[in-house]
Amino acid sequence: MGLPMGRNLARAGMRVTAWNRTRDKALPLEADGAAVAHSPAEAVEGADVVVTMLSDGDAVHEAVTAAAPGLRAGQVWAQMSTVGVAAVDRLSALAAEHGLTFVDAPVQGTRQPAEQGTLVILASGPSSAREALEPVFGALGQRTLWLGDAGAGTRLKMATVSYGISLTAVVAEALSLARGLGLDPDLVRQVIGGGPMDSAYFQAKAAAILSGDFAPSFTVRNAEKDTRLIREAGEGAGVRLDVVAAAGERLRRAEAGGHGDEDMAATYFASFDEAHSG
Ligand SMILES: NC(=O)c1ccc[n+]([C@@H]2O[C@H](COP(=O)([O-])OP(=O)(O)OC[C@H]3O[C@@H](n4cnc5c(N)ncnc54)[C@H](OP(=O)(O)O)[C@@H]3O)[C@@H](O)[C@H]2O)c1
Repeated sequence: MGLPMGRNLARAGMRVTAWNRTRDKALPLEADGAAVAHSPAEAVEGADVVVTMLSDGDAVHEAVTAAAPGLRAGQVWAQMSTVGVAAVDRLSALAAEHGLTFVDAPVQGTRQPAEQGTLVILASGPSSAREALEPVFGALGQRTLWLGDAGAGTRLKMATVSYGISLTAVVAEALSLARGLGLDPDLVRQVIGGGPMDSAYFQAKAAAILSGDFAPSFTVRNAEKDTRLIREAGEGAGVRLDVVAAAGERLRRAEAGGHGDEDMAATYFASFDEAHSG
């Protein structure tokens, strides 16, 4: 996600300095005029806006802590990774330590919307940050919802990502059941397609499963991480969530079967014993 987002910022004419732990993966950004820093501190030095897009709250905390020598009070920090409700407080405290204006702004949309700059940004934080973030969010997304105090964005993200992950598990189960019952799983697509239960999302995940192309839009590993964050959020709020817990089990089985770096549509494999053999 970070690569296409950095590219869209650079292509929109912003001065971008990127840092990624594995530097090679960020180097393609140079072709778009971005600089690729050797350290988090170098990346944030002199920036008006700092954007983080890493796997989880620990990774973000580690990177921003390492960035400390380059940070200066007054910078706006848009934290866009999916980190969960508890980590938002920890990251907000880290921002306060360095005098940064913290905006919790996770995104809805996978790799393709990130490439096309059509993410939906679930922003929350002080209104004083909005002016600085307007061009940034404008380059990254088609729509920004401002939701109130920092934390609201992540809470909404928990609800929306739970829908996407659960839906993926449901599509995968339907296709795997057809296969297990001795049918061509494409028949499920033919029956659902064009009817009231069809959706672009159903089509995308069914196509991945039927073609065997599990190039990641959103990995099994990150989706499994999100199921744990969603469950924690539900538990904290006294909301019982059964479906996402089951989806988490499927994702853990798929990961144990060697599918962790594939798209979460690979939860399909969790239906069969071969998930355990890899
Ligand atoms: N993909 C989606 O559809 C999607 C949609 C919405 C939100 N998200 C969220 O966006 C975030 C990024 O997702 P992604 O799909 O881009 O994941 P990804 O492809 O797995 O990339 C993870 C990134 O985090 C970095 N990272 C991991 N651990 C780190 C650590 N300890 N220190 C520093 N960097 C670390 C990785 O660096 P290396 O390159 O060195 O491994 C990589 O840049 C996640 O929070 C995800 O839940 C993803």
